[in-house]
Amino acid sequence: MTTNRPLFMPVILGTARQGRASEHVARFVFDEVLKREGVETELIDIRNIKLPTTDAGEAIKDAQFSATVERADALIIVVPEYNHGYPGLLKHVLDTNLKEYIHKAVGVCGVSAGVFGGTRVIENLLPVLRELGLVTIFWDGNFSNVGTLFDQSGKLLDESYVPRTDKFLKELIWMAKTLRHGRENISSGVGGQGPGAD
Ligand SMILES: Cc1cc2nc3c(=O)[nH]c(=O)nc-3n(C[C@H](O)[C@H](O)[C@H](O)COP(=O)(O)O)c2cc1C
Repeated sequence: MTTNRPLFMPVILGTARQGRASEHVARFVFDEVLKREGVETELIDIRNIKLPTTDAGEAIKDAQFSATVERADALIIVVPEYNHGYPGLLKHVLDTNLKEYIHKAVGVCGVSAGVFGGTRVIENLLPVLRELGLVTIFWDGNFSNVGTLFDQSGKLLDESYVPRTDKFLKELIWMAKTLRHGRENISSGVGGQGPGAD
């Protein structure tokens, strides 16, 4: 048996930069998730997670963020491409949890000023997510030319992103359901924690 409470899939806005265009993307994706039956969400702005910078990892857990990840069935990470990589602050935030992520789904929406829609940052983020114990999907969000993709008020100007995001969310929901079934019904045989310090 698998519990049939709604799936919980929070959206993480992965940059604190002033003037960030990723905020428009995160709000768009958040609104698309809200439209889904049987799915609950929350927008997590990493700007609001105040972490010290003189330590790292589980030692500096933010209780509210950890509780949100613990409750989640899937995470949606909206990440801008900074020199083909991810913002350091996003990594700092993600590093504060471990067991909370295990056997949960994750989908990534890359954001870039250029035409590649954050494909390079996504490729760089995937091994990090795997090490955290998250399970990635084979569909991403790629938000290209983000400087002109939204108007000043944050309204999406290219409707083709709606069906693409729908496809991305369908895949993520499938993985989230599958993994919830696995977590609740199938023993992994290796205990609750992955390799961790390896
Ligand atoms: C430090 C930094 C590095 C960046 N590197 C890239 C890059 O490698 N490729 C790219 O397409 N855009 C790059 N950009 C532009 C961002 O993709 C652009 O700002 C976009 O709006 C998404 O980031 P934002 O949410 O911070 O606005 C960079 C921006 C910053 C601030």
